[in-house]
Amino acid sequence: MTISNPRPPRDEAEFASVTNLIQQVFADDATTQAHLALVRSTAFLPGSLPAVWHPDGRALAVVQAVPCKIALLGTWVAGGIITMVATDQDVRGQGHMRACMNAAHEWLKSSGYPLAILYGIPAVYPRFDYRPVMPHSDVRYPTPERAAARSLRQATTRDLEAITQLFNEQEIDRPCSIQRQAEQWIWSGGTRSMAVLESAGGITGYARYAAAETSTLDVIESATRAGHEPEFLDALHAQAAERGSRSVRLRLMPDHPLVREVSRRATQLDLSDVQAVVQPPQAGMLCVLDIEATVNLLQPQITRRLRGQALRLEIGARKGIDVGVGGPTVRIPQQAELAHVLSGYPGIAALRQWGALQSDKHGFDLAQLAFPTEWPRWSVEPYWGE
Ligand SMILES: CC(C)(COP(=O)(O)OP(=O)(O)OC[C@H]1O[C@@H](n2cnc3c(N)ncnc32)[C@H](O)[C@@H]1OP(=O)(O)O)[C@@H](O)C(=O)NCCC(=O)NCCS
Repeated sequence: MTISNPRPPRDEAEFASVTNLIQQVFADDATTQAHLALVRSTAFLPGSLPAVWHPDGRALAVVQAVPCKIALLGTWVAGGIITMVATDQDVRGQGHMRACMNAAHEWLKSSGYPLAILYGIPAVYPRFDYRPVMPHSDVRYPTPERAAARSLRQATTRDLEAITQLFNEQEIDRPCSIQRQAEQWIWSGGTRSMAVLESAGGITGYARYAAAETSTLDVIESATRAGHEPEFLDALHAQAAERGSRSVRLRLMPDHPLVREVSRRATQLDLSDVQAVVQPPQAGMLCVLDIEATVNLLQPQITRRLRGQALRLEIGARKGIDVGVGGPTVRIPQQAELAHVLSGYPGIAALRQWGALQSDKHGFDLAQLAFPTEWPRWSVEPYWGE
């Protein structure tokens, strides 16, 4: 079968066919319904929902590009989230997704969004020039016996504004985080599984946790106002004790402020059960769609991080990209590798170890490269630091 050029749905009937395909490919649960609401709200941005169509009018493959702001080098950059990646199972492996993805990328580039991010399976997306840039770690320890008196309280919808502000304040420094709006907390199933710490000046921290799991307080997401981390961690422990959770689990990025606080208390907490494992399968992945536009947008930040030294890029379509930071330039073999450099996690370390990256194009160990995880000497390379 020849691949028809992807294009967005033209009418309600075609839109219904796209919805149908998404429901078939993904479990038809609350999360998919929330995604579908998002698809509907942005579907008619021309070009944002490219689909491949069967001559009989059925959607065979679809992908959605949702404009967003992505944190890179301490600032928000215009980009797109790639979501709803779905091909009808009868026609997989025929290049339909590649066609959709190319169309979505072209649409993003031409609309002024030079970066794309997605959350997905690392085995698939390097094929589309994405690189894992948001590894998670898994830190577990028994709930401390002497927990603080004050614990967290259940969040309500009235807290969402403050939570969002907190999230964005913190996440601007987490490479490749997505800026959120208060109404976008649909992913987390609302406030049911969210708890906040209320201090004199308002809400100073929140955690989203797996509500169904009680034996462990399983924190999936969290943000704290700078300086309030010790107080927040104490309250989190009190909350764990209160709900009868025997252990605490933090599934956060390895350099998350809360993880750093735990790391700081390594000798007080019984961390014998720590699995300081970076888990790429849950990672966000970044693709630099337009190198020049990206570098132009980020030049002030890049220059500041490099303390005045320029990042030199020589872009050659076939030869790769030469990247120089002060000293000699290093050739990046593919456009995709720039995602790692800009994300700041591997940063300079990645450049130093480029040989290792090149040796295994798709399966390199980002975790070991970016995060030496020998607990408790667990540390993260400072972004662009020496
Ligand atoms: C993943 C999926 C969208 C791929 O769609 P498709 O139309 O079969 O993809 P294509 O034929 O265009 O293949 C594009 C590339 O992806 C690769 N690819 C596709 N499925 C893959 C898989 N399961 N594992 C590894 N690579 C895969 C192909 O080999 C191809 O790469 P190549 O051109 O370098 O050989 C499809 O299998 C699907 O809908 N899966 C279920 C839903 C899903 O998992 N979505 C992603 C959620 S994160």
